[in-house]
Amino acid sequence: MAYDPLLELKAVTKTFGNGGLGLVDINLDIAQGEFLSLLGPSGCGKTTTLRVIAGFEAPTSGSVLLGGRDIGHLRPYDRPVNTVFQDYAIFPHMNVSENVGFGLSLRKIPVAEQRKRILNALELVGLADKAQSRVQALSGGQRQRVALARAIVCEPKVLLLDEPLSALDAYLREQMQVELKSLQARLGTTFVLVTHDQTEALSISDRIVVMNKARIEQVASPAELYDCPATKFVASFIGTMNLLPATVLGRAGDRVMFDAGVPVSLALEATAAVPEQAAVTIGIRPEDFQLESESVTESRPLKITSIVFHGRSLRVHGALSSGQEIVLDVPRQSERMSLAAGEFAHVRLRPGAVCSILSA
Ligand SMILES: Nc1ncnc2c1ncn2[C@@H]1O[C@H](COP(=O)(O)OP(=O)(O)OP(=O)(O)O)[C@@H](O)[C@H]1O
Ligand SMILES: [Mg+2]
Repeated sequence: MAYDPLLELKAVTKTFGNGGLGLVDINLDIAQGEFLSLLGPSGCGKTTTLRVIAGFEAPTSGSVLLGGRDIGHLRPYDRPVNTVFQDYAIFPHMNVSENVGFGLSLRKIPVAEQRKRILNALELVGLADKAQSRVQALSGGQRQRVALARAIVCEPKVLLLDEPLSALDAYLREQMQVELKSLQARLGTTFVLVTHDQTEALSISDRIVVMNKARIEQVASPAELYDCPATKFVASFIGTMNLLPATVLGRAGDRVMFDAGVPVSLALEATAAVPEQAAVTIGIRPEDFQLESESVTESRPLKITSIVFHGRSLRVHGALSSGQEIVLDVPRQSERMSLAAGEFAHVRLRPGAVCSILSA
C-alpha cells in the first residue's frame, strides 16, 4: 500500500531578516493520524517549524503540502490547521464556552451547531461542567484543557501544540500527557507537538523529530531513537548515554569486537560502515552495564567515584583503568555488593545490550 503523507515539508528553509537561521532544508512527511513530536534544545527551530506549517511564517524557500496540495498561498485561518500556543492564549474576558466557541463564531457557524460542538469538545476534555465558568476560576490544567477544546472544536486536520504542558507541575503534566495521547487516539487527528522534554516526547509520540541548530538530526520512533541514535547529539539528548572512544579489535563470525575500555561485541550489520581498525565512538546506556563483585570473563575493573540514589536503581559513576569515566545504573538488589565511593568493582556489558556506533 502506498504511503500517503497528510502533511509534507519539502526543503523548507527559513532565514530571518536579521540573517538568523530559523530552518535549514527541512524535509518531513507526517502521516494522517500520527502523533509526531519536535524535540530539541532552545532555539533549534521547533516553533518556527510549527509557524511555517500554520502559515504564520512564510518559508524563505521550499514548500508545505497538505494532502498533496501546496498550501503556501493559504492564510493561517484558511488552513485546516489549529495551534495551541505555549501560553494557552485564553481570552480572560470570555467564559469557558465563549473561549471554546471563538473559532466557530469567526467561521459564522450557526449558533445551534456551535452549542453542540462546544459541548462535545468540552466533554472530550472533561470540562462539560465548567462551560459557564469564568476562566480566572480555573486551575492551570483546566485552562490548558480549555485551550485544547478551543483548538479541536474546529475539527482541524492537523493540531499543532507548542510546548502546551510546560507551565504545568510534574504531576499534572504527566496526567495531561496521558489525556493528550488518548484524546488524539479518539479524534484520529494528526498532532504535531513541540517539546524540549525528552521524557515527554518518548512517552507520547509515534515518531520524534530531533532538531539541532535549525536542522533535523534524526526522525524515528521513540524506541528506535533510544536504541539506535544516529548521531552523538541525538545520543546525548535522549536519555543518558556513555560516549566511549573505541578501537576495532577484529571480527569473529558475524560480530565485530571493539575495545571501548570494556570489551564490546556488535553484530556485523550494525557496524557495516565501520572500516577495520578505525577509531569509533560507541554509545552505551547506563542500564547496559552490569557490575560484578569479582572479576569475570569480559569484565574490567572500575573505580567507583560516586553513587547517587535514584529510587529503583542506583546511578554509579566510576572510572575505567584507562581513566575513561562511565555512568551506570545498578538495580537496588545489587546493594548487597556494598558499593561505596573509592572502592573497586568489576564492570562488563550486560549480555544482550544494545550499543550503537555514533557519527559526529
Ligand atoms: N522573528 C524572528 N526574527 C529573527 N530570528 C528569529 C525569529 N524567530 C525565531 N528566530 C530565530 O530562529 C531560531 C529558531 O527559533 P525557534 O523559536 O523556532 O526556536 P525553538 O526551537 O522554538 O526554541 P525554544 O525551545 O526556545 O522555544 C532561533 O535562533 C531564533 O533566535
Ligand atoms: Mg519555541
